[in-house]
Amino acid sequence: MNYEVKEMNSVDVQRRLLLKATGAAAGCCAMPIGSAQADDNVEGPAKGDLLVPAKGEATAPLKADDIKVGAKPVLVFPYDLKEKKPKDGSRLNKLMLVRLDPAAMTDETKARAVNGVVAYSAVCTHQGCDVTEFVSAEKVLMCFCHFSKFNPADGTVAKGPAAKSLAYVPLTEKDGLLTIAGGFSNKPGV
Ligand code: FES
Repeated sequence: MNYEVKEMNSVDVQRRLLLKATGAAAGCCAMPIGSAQADDNVEGPAKGDLLVPAKGEATAPLKADDIKVGAKPVLVFPYDLKEKKPKDGSRLNKLMLVRLDPAAMTDETKARAVNGVVAYSAVCTHQGCDVTEFVSAEKVLMCFCHFSKFNPADGTVAKGPAAKSLAYVPLTEKDGLLTIAGGFSNKPGV
């Protein structure tokens, strides 16, 4: 498989958000800073999609063992098996995979995990930056923009300013590959 992935880093996001804010100040396109609105024309994660890395050289669909306990989250896009391409037309489709000790997870979280691997939206619910870090000492995901923290073991916000939990998608395993078992739990992003 060979495909191109569009990547947007935090600086790009902040620049885009600033442009939106400038437009709002000029009376155009009023939108609060950081609003990460869903693109209705882009299909989101769906049952049966595989998961492929959002950046880097590796393009093969991921297995649970590709994700290591305590490591940085792996940023991924859903991969549409019918269309044979990643759903990378919107950054709101970007997910992160993190692997936890199943003993630390709630039953609800365990039910949507594969061998401790869970999938969350990578878009922060505060102002829409990418959530890219795992603080292993606290076992929380962290957004570097304003340091919100999210507990992947139970899906809650561990520390603001974010007030809303990250959206998640349930996972299952098919033919040894991580496979999406359903759509977002709620609207991703802000
Ligand atoms: S965008 Fe503010 S904490 Fe993530």
